[in-house]
Amino acid sequence: MESLVTAALLMMGALCWALPVRQNSLQCDPGKQYGHLGRCCNKCPPGTHMKAKCTSTANTTCSPCGPNEYMSVWNEDLKCTLHMVCDPGKVLRVTFKGNSTHPRECECIEGYHFDTKQEICMENVKCPPGSGVHQVPVQSNKNTVCVPCPVGYYSNSTSATDGCTRWTNCTDLGLQEIVPGSNMSDAFCDRYIVPQDCTCLIFKVQINLF
Ligand SMILES: *[C@@H]1O[C@H](CO)[C@@H](O)[C@H](O)[C@H]1NC(C)=O
Ligand SMILES: *[C@@H]1O[C@H](CO)[C@@H](O)[C@H](O)[C@H]1NC(C)=O
Ligand SMILES: *[C@@H]1O[C@H](CO)[C@@H](O)[C@H](O)[C@H]1NC(C)=O
Ligand SMILES: *[C@@H]1O[C@H](CO)[C@@H](O)[C@H](O)[C@H]1NC(C)=O
Ligand SMILES: *[C@@H]1O[C@H](CO)[C@@H](O)[C@H](O)[C@H]1NC(C)=O
Repeated sequence: MESLVTAALLMMGALCWALPVRQNSLQCDPGKQYGHLGRCCNKCPPGTHMKAKCTSTANTTCSPCGPNEYMSVWNEDLKCTLHMVCDPGKVLRVTFKGNSTHPRECECIEGYHFDTKQEICMENVKCPPGSGVHQVPVQSNKNTVCVPCPVGYYSNSTSATDGCTRWTNCTDLGLQEIVPGSNMSDAFCDRYIVPQDCTCLIFKVQINLF
């Protein structure tokens, strides 16, 4: 009786002692392997998914991803991941088609940017007259940033793409500035008004006569 108890205690002790040691001694590469049935087995490489786990005699069975699927990491997944849809109805377009190892990438079409909070494409802000787009050409997939036109520049349009334009320099054109520019309008130039001379007077008189 006593020897039986001793034997049982010894067995339990042996188990408790053996289990953690066996786990400790099984050091699989966490990136590419998994522990199963006391041994390390390979995970499935990118571009494939797991069809069956390893057994004591066979390695893991992997299967390639389908035509519209991908798997970018070493995995134990039973299915590959479906490529996302770049839905034109949500104003998205494909920037990278994707393949068996890399996911498809979408981007909002021109004039729209991706709002990360709402996770939708939003129309870019239009800058009102007197202000222009900060960066021209507008950065793809970024919302417009408007800046007030500095002195010497104007914008007369509501636009999500146009910057401010420099005022026309009348002097450079050999003209006279009739109306100075503002932040919303260009300078208005005209020919120098020639001081009234006899010809003009005669001309006026003639007009007045009729
Ligand atoms: C399991 O894979 C290893 C290489 O990773 C190979 O050496 C071994 O032969 C394979 N075993 C079987 C049963 O296919
Ligand atoms: C998938 O595309 C990536 C990025 O262009 C490329 O590096 C990789 O080689 C491609 N993989 C396959 C299986 O074509
Ligand atoms: C344009 O100029 C007017 C008058 O100086 C000013 O009131 C207005 O705020 C300016 N607009 C912008 C967009 O800066
Ligand atoms: C804005 O200015 C341009 C050129 O200066 C002019 O052709 C156009 O008619 C103006 N548009 C408006 C709405 O005033
Ligand atoms: C026009 O250009 C001349 C130089 O060509 C410059 O001296 C002048 O300040 C400019 N005028 C305006 C209104 O920008």
